[in-house]
Amino acid sequence: MAEEKIVLGIESTAHTLGFGIVSTTGKILANVNYVYKPKEGGIHPREAAQHHSMHAARGVMEALRRAGISPERIDGVAFSAGPGMGPCLRVGATLARALALKLNKPLLAVNHGVAHIEIGRLVTGARDPVVLYIAGGNTLITAYLDGRYRIFGETLDIAAGNCLDAFGIEAGIGPMPNPEVKAREGRKIHPLPYRVKGMDVSFSGLLTAALKLLKKGIRIEDVCLSITETVYSMLTETLERALAFTEKKEILLVGGLARSIRLRQMIEAMAKLHDAKVYVVPPEYAGDNGAMIAWTGALQLLSGLVIRVEESVVKPKFRIDEVEVKWRNLNGSK
Ligand SMILES: Nc1ncnc2c1ncn2[C@@H]1O[C@H](COP(=O)(O)OP(=O)(O)OP(=O)(O)O)[C@@H](O)[C@H]1O
Ligand SMILES: [Mg+2]
Repeated sequence: MAEEKIVLGIESTAHTLGFGIVSTTGKILANVNYVYKPKEGGIHPREAAQHHSMHAARGVMEALRRAGISPERIDGVAFSAGPGMGPCLRVGATLARALALKLNKPLLAVNHGVAHIEIGRLVTGARDPVVLYIAGGNTLITAYLDGRYRIFGETLDIAAGNCLDAFGIEAGIGPMPNPEVKAREGRKIHPLPYRVKGMDVSFSGLLTAALKLLKKGIRIEDVCLSITETVYSMLTETLERALAFTEKKEILLVGGLARSIRLRQMIEAMAKLHDAKVYVVPPEYAGDNGAMIAWTGALQLLSGLVIRVEESVVKPKFRIDEVEVKWRNLNGSK
């Protein structure tokens, strides 16, 4: 067996600056995260980048301290290359390049979406699932096929998390999970645009329509119930289609919205009909975090997917199906 190696991973695509230290055998030694919270509204990329710069040095030191290792023990430095906000991505990339050069260790450019999936597989034990990746910036249904995570369905406009967060903020109750919590006191579901095209979904019309209901004076609890039930039903329907299409027997929920209790209930009910097992990434690893970048970096290190510093550009629109997932063929695993 190859010698165990240790990778430091840096996450900085949007609101979170994260540092993870993970071994190539899957031991998570540290997961330290700093979350930028805008005073109002959504994320301002430049302010978020400033937040990340401010916590950068402290974050590296804290992760090393928690892992109980010295910098020399690091065998590779991974960073989130995208997708994400340019100014935020550049903070993580610059730090990773500097560390890789200083320590004279390989640099690993990780896709943020692939990292959400891989940390989910690591911590839940799911082997070959259909994945629902639901977060603030992305909504996609994917599964591994012939060396890549293929995208079976995705949002045609805004992400599910973004839709529910924007609704909560506009409605004055704040982002998720607040709309879902309020929905528990809802009694009536009002019809909202239900846009599913094959395995793709669209949420922006639904968001506008839900805000219109509020303006008309409909109880906020009922609007919350209507919007959450509609969004979750659309996700469950498209996921069911992908499950039938791929004939897989596992479902994995990853990304920040995987923390939703109601969505999980709906998906579990659907999975039962297909004899499929549902795995949900635990809350600590659902939202953005450094450990997911370190672990995916470790997988890349094992399969030789390293990058030269000169080529390590950030990719704000990096899609998961651009990544060659070589590590799924290691040790005969699929
Ligand atoms: N307790 C919760 N229950 C349900 N959803 C939640 C909860 N907490 C956060 N979320 C959702 O998780 C989202 C954040 O997830 P994550 O950190 O993975 O997203 P992101 O990195 O902003 O997006 P992406 O991964 O698509 O780039 C929030 O936008 C919110 O919608
Ligand atoms: Mg994310």
